[in-house]
Amino acid sequence: MKAVGEVVVVTGGAGGIGRALAERFHGDGAKTVVVADLDHAGAEAVAKAIGGAAFRCDVGNEAEVAALVDETERRFGPIGLFCSNAGIAAGFDLDADVASASNDDWARMWTVNVMSHVYAARTLVPRMKARGGGYFLITVSAAGLLSQIGSATYSTTKHAAVGFAESLAIAHRADGIRVSILCPQGVDTAMLRSLPRGPQSFDGVLTAGEVAAAASAGLERETFLILPHAEVETYMRRKIENYDRWIGGMAKLLKKTREGIG
Ligand SMILES: NC(=O)c1ccc[n+]([C@@H]2O[C@H](COP(=O)([O-])OP(=O)(O)OC[C@H]3O[C@@H](n4cnc5c(N)ncnc54)[C@H](O)[C@@H]3O)[C@@H](O)[C@H]2O)c1
Repeated sequence: MKAVGEVVVVTGGAGGIGRALAERFHGDGAKTVVVADLDHAGAEAVAKAIGGAAFRCDVGNEAEVAALVDETERRFGPIGLFCSNAGIAAGFDLDADVASASNDDWARMWTVNVMSHVYAARTLVPRMKARGGGYFLITVSAAGLLSQIGSATYSTTKHAAVGFAESLAIAHRADGIRVSILCPQGVDTAMLRSLPRGPQSFDGVLTAGEVAAAASAGLERETFLILPHAEVETYMRRKIENYDRWIGGMAKLLKKTREGIG
């Protein structure tokens, strides 16, 4: 699919990858780009720069996601591309025991990194089915395919997001609904800058604009999996070829990361 002429929504659009997606799809000729974010002032600044619309929305709140979809379609028409991009990273600690994050942290990560996609699909799938199709671009992470050294909450919720995206793509393919997952490693955004340096940066950190360009190209190809870092495909193959060797390799990588090598 191409964004040209489409109504596009980008969650987490006030900064980072979301901002770059909003700018990219505007540049690709979208009819309207709706920039949705918890940070309303930030969303307004991005929307103003691209002639789009801003919406304050907490993607972890089902009613707010439904209102985002309702209001967008009422004002601008059917959403052709919904970019479910907002996500959070917390609990990065290379030395902590793996289940040590609090239940509140687990719940918050689950809500924002997984349920946000469920809420978007719950409100949009019936509409897209009725009109013969639509597109979801879900920003996940290479952590959802491999693992996130130093954060079990991030790794687990991103794996769950991949699982949900697969179900969405399988269950609604016959309805004309298409899905892509965007799975970069390190991207130079506020999120990455807030984390300790780790393996997510070892293959090089991309700009958000480079990731948005990869997303746009992936949408044109309509491939489910969009990998802005090409190395991730090799790592996925290694994981499948020999799971035990891969676990051992990741444990060594954790040790190296703790020792500050990389
Ligand atoms: N930066 C990376 O290295 C990297 C790598 C792989 C995947 N990702 C994923 O990319 C996505 C975007 O990350 P980023 O690096 O641009 O992060 P970022 O923190 O730079 O930007 C995220 C944006 O989302 C907004 N946001 C956060 N919680 C929200 C909520 N509940 N509702 C609405 N908006 C909310 C923030 O206000 C912010 O504008 C996330 O899903 C993240 O997990 C990031």
